[in-house]
Amino acid sequence: MVTWVAGVPILTHGVGMTIDWAGLRAAAVDVAGRAYAPYSRLRVGAAGLTIDGQVVTGCNVENASFGLTLCAECGLVSALHATAPRPDPAMDGASAPVLVAVAVVAGDGEPLLPCGRCRQLLLEAGGPSLLVDTAGGPVPLSELLPAAFGGADLSARRDA
Ligand code: THU
Repeated sequence: MVTWVAGVPILTHGVGMTIDWAGLRAAAVDVAGRAYAPYSRLRVGAAGLTIDGQVVTGCNVENASFGLTLCAECGLVSALHATAPRPDPAMDGASAPVLVAVAVVAGDGEPLLPCGRCRQLLLEAGGPSLLVDTAGGPVPLSELLPAAFGGADLSARRDA
């Protein structure tokens, strides 16, 4: 079940959905092998489960102009939009596909906590109840990004 609050999906998890965390982490490990990280030599892979059961993945892609580096989660979110069904195609571009769970790993196969920018990016792809794999088990994104800025701040605070 998804409801939208100012562009952020608010999910009710666990309703008929089993999350295969081992499988999700394995998909992240697999895609970490495709990372392009010649500068940092830190491979990162990210795998996300959509609300309709699809697995989408991404890996980090670095650049000689270091600031252009794309985190693995950026690739994942791009793949999400490129491939996952939109809940309401009639919304003409404003309807976004939704993630319910995500696993991010480094090349060593162990969970890597998403950087701050990627937490913000993931918020708009899965909302505060998006479950994030950690070494201590899954946690909701709201724990990793409390008091987040979001679309509601835009609509409430912009000039009239
Ligand atoms: N990296 C990610 O892919 N995701 C994160 O959440 C943290 C950092 C990548 C970016 C860069 O290629 C490398 O890790 C070192 O920062």
